[in-house]
Amino acid sequence: MGLRSDFIWGAATAAIQIEGAGQEGGRSLSNWDVFSEIPGAIKGGDSPLEGVDHYRRMRSDVMLMKELGIRAYRFSISWPRILPQGTGEVNQDGLRFYNELVDTLLEVGITPYVTLYHWDLPYNLHLQGGFLNPAMPSWMENYAKVVVDALSDRVSNWITLNEPQCFLGLAYKDAVHAPGWRLSDREMALAVHNTLLCHGKILHVIRTFAKTKAKVAFVQATPFTSVPVTEKDIEAARDRQFMLSDSFANSGVLYTDAIYRGKYPDEYLSRYQDILPVITDDDMRLISAPLDYFGLNLYGGDFVQRGVDGKPVVVPRIKGYARTALDWDVRPEIMYWTLKFCYERYRVPILVTENGMSGNDWIHVDGHIHDADRIDFLHRYLKCMRSAVDDGVDIRGYFHWSLFDNFEWSLGFAERFGLVFVDYVTGERTIKDSGYWYRDIVKSNGLSL
Ligand code: BGC
Repeated sequence: MGLRSDFIWGAATAAIQIEGAGQEGGRSLSNWDVFSEIPGAIKGGDSPLEGVDHYRRMRSDVMLMKELGIRAYRFSISWPRILPQGTGEVNQDGLRFYNELVDTLLEVGITPYVTLYHWDLPYNLHLQGGFLNPAMPSWMENYAKVVVDALSDRVSNWITLNEPQCFLGLAYKDAVHAPGWRLSDREMALAVHNTLLCHGKILHVIRTFAKTKAKVAFVQATPFTSVPVTEKDIEAARDRQFMLSDSFANSGVLYTDAIYRGKYPDEYLSRYQDILPVITDDDMRLISAPLDYFGLNLYGGDFVQRGVDGKPVVVPRIKGYARTALDWDVRPEIMYWTLKFCYERYRVPILVTENGMSGNDWIHVDGHIHDADRIDFLHRYLKCMRSAVDDGVDIRGYFHWSLFDNFEWSLGFAERFGLVFVDYVTGERTIKDSGYWYRDIVKSNGLSL
């Protein structure tokens, strides 16, 4: 069958991971800038304030995208750049930057995909409790309205939130991401519901005020990505894929069931009934308003089989198995199984909004970056994605993570995920071999896979 002729080939980034200019152009501090000042919070003591200097190099960066031949670019808006205090006065310089980015992309024929929230919260809103504050959904609504008013005459593709299981689970529960909290289950349940209401509010703003016909996705990673060992383990892998973990805010299914099925998982409602905030029918209607895409970020995963007690069991990693620089397993089969499981459950066209790997990349003696491992990784993952399409999974696009090497959250600049290598001393960019390989895949619409 092959990929659709209008298949969307792109690459993705997030504002705070690349922009830099953290204290320029009227931007205020975010939760991550302040978190990174805590000794030991970020590997190597790195800070996102300088990013990879994309704010200043925006035009030449877009020219690099053109050279790579990507058709779509997924980026996020920095809330602290648009509304430095989170609410109130709009920073026109911030809007100007994104207006120019969108114009530059369109000039070279690249379609913008805009994520409203990819984890950088204005510090002022964090001080007021962030996602614990019941005002958060209306703050988010107000911010979304400013962005939609400014960009929606030229932007038609939107992503509401990126991976709440990270910006809540890793951040408010596991203390690994900003702000490094360890909240109680009761507080987490409140933060989860407020977050889902934020999604609903953003979606409502886009549907009501967008000036061009909008296509909208919510983006999730599925933390329990599971691959069946044999045919008879398919059910076990599916069960695990949609499992609720004890640390419930880290479970993808909590968010995706609420958003795409209009209902929190039964197990969540019964197990935590004593600590849940008030959840009304109106809330659920807002949260589950129809979306155009199901956005999935896919990286590693586990082999799973049915255990003797009937429960899914993860097969221990085989010694010496292929893994990325970040020690994540190379598990291309997830591009078949996870996409299939999610499509069967939610029946919404899928966008792979992130996929890629961190590599030990450096500039070789001939001046090039020969990242053969990333090419092999992509080759395997994309082939499995194509098999899913051949088996009837409705996949509309693929965005590589990431366009550039960038600030990898609590791991700082230690991990390199880019198709484009960044010299962190000079800021110089060099397209890696994988970037050229990806360009050829895009050109052939995946036929050369
Ligand atoms: C996030 C990215 C991150 C990537 C690799 C995703 O969860 O959306 O911001 O850099 O994974 O860790």
